[in-house]
Amino acid sequence: MRRLLVTGGAGFVGVHLVQHAVEHSDCQVTVLDKLTYAASPEALTALPPDRMRLVVGDVADAMMVDGLVASHDAVVHLAAESHNDNSLQDPSAFVETNLVGTFTLLEAVRRHGVRLHHVSTDEVYGDLPLDSPDRFTESSPYRPSSPYSATKAGADHLVRAWIRSYGIPATISNSSNNYGPWQHIEKFIPRQITNLLDGRQPKLYGNGQQIRDWLHVSDHASAIWAILGQGRLGETYLVGADGEQTNLEVVRTILAHLVREDLDVDLVADRVGHDQRYAIDSAKLRVELGWRPLFNDFEAGLADTIDWYAANESWWRPAKERAEAEYAARGQ
Ligand code: NAD
Ligand code: TYD
Repeated sequence: MRRLLVTGGAGFVGVHLVQHAVEHSDCQVTVLDKLTYAASPEALTALPPDRMRLVVGDVADAMMVDGLVASHDAVVHLAAESHNDNSLQDPSAFVETNLVGTFTLLEAVRRHGVRLHHVSTDEVYGDLPLDSPDRFTESSPYRPSSPYSATKAGADHLVRAWIRSYGIPATISNSSNNYGPWQHIEKFIPRQITNLLDGRQPKLYGNGQQIRDWLHVSDHASAIWAILGQGRLGETYLVGADGEQTNLEVVRTILAHLVREDLDVDLVADRVGHDQRYAIDSAKLRVELGWRPLFNDFEAGLADTIDWYAANESWWRPAKERAEAEYAARGQ
């Protein structure tokens, strides 16, 4: 593979994937990204210009996407609206990018026979009870809760239909929640870190007992790379690193790292339809492709991430007030 197209490559997962591709191959990467509020093109500027170029555009722009797909050997599709809370406020951009954008890309892939890897989320499977040992597998039923997860589920179904009906050469991955550098401060972990750095209280929805299965973003990137290189066409792989934590446990770890255990946690309005627990069984990816996460110690990965946000205030500061004003307007 010489020429790789990455949609949404200026987003949180995208910048880590592009970095991984440049470091682990000699391919040339084209990033197609609309540069929404969630993008961090500055994270790509250190890459050599002969290895990475940025095309600013919409994945739902059929003409542009057709030309780009035609001139590449493989596509990794990450472009999406990605925040559940935003999808509850206004789902329209989620339908446009996550569904129409994926459809647009699939049609170009079908015309040009280009290899596609579609990046999705474990949230398509809905949630698990808090008190069960169950974990999601590749055969778990689809049961999305929010407009975000419903549009990601719809996109997965489109990809599978294009595989079965048109024989496109594609794979799918469904990952658990990622953490690490360059994640937008609207998301849970960066919001709590930057709140504390700002002297604000951590904000937990409801009782803080919901569980997420945390995966370091660089391990997500290595998993996508393994599937792109060695995944069996037509298959789905779940990505996770056995990182289950309650939201309250995560906040307590951040408080301890910043030596602010004195600070009270603010229990704020719960998210409507809030998924209780996600947990991933990633045996298929590990056994078939030999993938292993490098970050097996969540506390150590989180400590690195806290230090990164402390050192990169100039990046997150401009977005902070607006994000907090939007949360405050919703009592969160
Ligand atoms: P993000 O919101 O940080 O980045 C999304 C990127 O897509 C941004 O750079 C944005 O500018 C771009 N984009 C949005 N709409 C676009 C459009 N119409 N055309 C072109 N570009 C557009 O999201 P992320 O966390 O990096 O997630 C990337 C992908 O990985 C998503 O598909 C998401 O569903 C999936 N995923 C993320 C996680 C996670 O924890 N972050 C977990 C599982 C799956
Ligand atoms: P989030 O980062 O939005 O990811 P997702 O909804 O995709 O899991 O939220 C992670 C968890 O943290 C989820 O249970 C909601 C919760 N949460 C809070 O308790 N407080 C917050 O300020 C935010 C943003 C999320």
